[in-house]
Amino acid sequence: MNDANKNSDDASVIVALDYPDAKSAMTLVDKLEPSLCKLKVGKELFTAEGPAFIRDLVKKDFKVFLDLKFHDIPNTVASACAVAADLGVWMMNVHASGGRKMMETASNRLASFSHRPLLIGVTILTSLSEQEINEIGYSGTPEENVIRLASLAESSGLDGIVCSPLEASPVRRELSDNFLLVTPGVRPSFASTDDQKRIMTPSDALKAGANYLVIGRPITAAEDPLKNLMLINEEITALNLSLIHI
Ligand code: C5P
Repeated sequence: MNDANKNSDDASVIVALDYPDAKSAMTLVDKLEPSLCKLKVGKELFTAEGPAFIRDLVKKDFKVFLDLKFHDIPNTVASACAVAADLGVWMMNVHASGGRKMMETASNRLASFSHRPLLIGVTILTSLSEQEINEIGYSGTPEENVIRLASLAESSGLDGIVCSPLEASPVRRELSDNFLLVTPGVRPSFASTDDQKRIMTPSDALKAGANYLVIGRPITAAEDPLKNLMLINEEITALNLSLIHI
């Protein structure tokens, strides 16, 4: 293993475990190592397998991003965040459109944890077109709304946002250097684009200001997932960027 694949906490790649059940997810997880990546569990896998699966990943020393995008009244969201923190997750997220009070309450509730998980905001879902966000009642372009909601998330005590790598540069310009940008829609040059349209390579996303890259199928659907993960880590290390990882 070369240097690109030795340094644990520095791993920028979060592998998206988009599986319907624990058995298929664990088949992939058993091929990976906590020193090389973090893991993201979303609504499908969590709904199927619940907290026991998260505990299993934490027991294996993986850092887990619980991607459940909470959105509810402040007390309900803060209580759900506290339960997720008890599970030992490393990162979780809420919708920024839940508003300042919701984000502040969640952030304050997490502050009492000795290993406080990172709290990330979802701004505008990248699946929404300008016409669709206008229909919901937001005026302006998706990018203007992403920046507005990202600023609200930052001033409400959140640690960062999820955004498209194509939004990383403009968001980075408006927000502080240590505000985390977590970007899906990343495709190494050797991988298929699948159904992702607005994509960037790992290097370009990090150069644009991303801190963590959510990558699914280029690793999960690969014949040799570990090899692809290591190739991506090598590409990242070759950049020689001083990345902020909290
Ligand atoms: O397989 P792929 O790399 O496309 O997976 C990307 C992951 O990031 C999936 O879990 C997907 O749900 C998530 N995601 C995304 N685009 C967004 C937000 C989340 O692809 N805008």
